[in-house]
Amino acid sequence: MNAIERIIPITVAPAPTFLAATPAAPGEALRDTRGRAVRDLRISITDRCNFRCVYCMPKTVFGRDYPFLPRNELLSFEEIERIARAFVAQGVEKIRLTGGEPLLRHDLERLIEQLAKLPVEITLTTNGSLLAKKAQTLKDAGLHRVTVSLDALDDAIFKRMSDVEYAVSDVLAGIEAAAAVGLAPVKVNCVVKRGVNDNQILPLARHFRGSGQILRFIEYMDVGSSNGWKMDEVLPSAEVVARIDAEFPLAAIGANYAGEVAERWRYVDGSGEIGVISSVTQAFCGSCTRIRLSTEGKLYTCLFAQSGHDLRALLRSGGSDTELTGAIAGIWRARGDRYSEIRTAETAGAKKIEMSYIGG
Ligand code: GTP
Ligand code: 5AD
Ligand code: SF4
Ligand code: SF4
Repeated sequence: MNAIERIIPITVAPAPTFLAATPAAPGEALRDTRGRAVRDLRISITDRCNFRCVYCMPKTVFGRDYPFLPRNELLSFEEIERIARAFVAQGVEKIRLTGGEPLLRHDLERLIEQLAKLPVEITLTTNGSLLAKKAQTLKDAGLHRVTVSLDALDDAIFKRMSDVEYAVSDVLAGIEAAAAVGLAPVKVNCVVKRGVNDNQILPLARHFRGSGQILRFIEYMDVGSSNGWKMDEVLPSAEVVARIDAEFPLAAIGANYAGEVAERWRYVDGSGEIGVISSVTQAFCGSCTRIRLSTEGKLYTCLFAQSGHDLRALLRSGGSDTELTGAIAGIWRARGDRYSEIRTAETAGAKKIEMSYIGG
């Protein structure tokens, strides 16, 4: 058995069951064991992607024969909408569609149309490669905002990170199209891997400064079990800020909302802002209001979870809306996750679910 196959118990909360818990009453916040409310539901709508980012879906693991989920295993749009509605009744204010690459899911606009009827913000995270083509129909369907991943401006370095033949210009065209149709503000996420793309921090900052798009740098994380994560490949966000500040002076600004993962910095000359997301060097579990629904209907209370709760089984065995809401309430109330606060070299090597399956 190799290190990756060993299951190291890192889940703090006891595995909750579907005991019929009482849902939170209207206006009352549903709270977990650490007093955190549920606010942000992330729904992965496909485990497939047309990129093979080395930190997420390395080709050595996600090769031609990788067993992606078959179609009948996926939640239908109707099932997703039903679960989303139950979460909104329990306090969720924002829904983020993720993947894999969500724009690969056929007829995605039909799902967005349904979700957009709920009184929440609908956002989506994409690699941007298909965005130029889809921005207008996504906007028309009711999507509010997009976040686009882009790890380099230089094509060769972009390829070293994404391991595909797309060009940086494809992603930039997607970002421009999204901004033009009003899927704004567009946020641009760059995962920084020391020694691979950290020389792109300044070119990216120069490019997006003054554009209205919000560039954010993410510390490379030990999500999943495929990327061979090592601490010395993490560039601390403090260094990202220092490098940009040396060329364009920055000043810290407050969060837009409680529990925002990005720490915000504005350019002193008024040309916009950047963000840094420092899950490794400055854990933000204390204010984590996020829950994740996988493509086939498992609910995960942490990005670094080792197991999920099968909501699809509940739905497909005829569970009522009351049972669904009760199950959600029970799972959230039992939650005690704080992985980033307790990360060690040993937990980093443990078997965990993949980001491409659970979504960013
Ligand atoms: P908005 O504020 O709505 O734009 O979204 P966000 O700040 O939540 O951003 P986004 O979903 O784009 O998250 C950015 C990145 O932060 C993700 O791709 C992850 O890499 C990381 N991240 C987001 N949520 C978590 C989390 O709960 N735990 C950890 N460790 N990392 C997270
Ligand atoms: N570390 C940090 N961020 C990651 N993402 C995927 N894998 C990792 C990782 N290992 C980010 C991507 C994208 C989002 C879906 O998650 O860059 O912005
Ligand atoms: Fe695909 Fe996003 Fe993962 Fe890259 S980070 S492989 S674009 S899901
Ligand atoms: Fe939330 Fe888990 Fe991320 Fe901590 S590590 S912020 S608990 S998802």
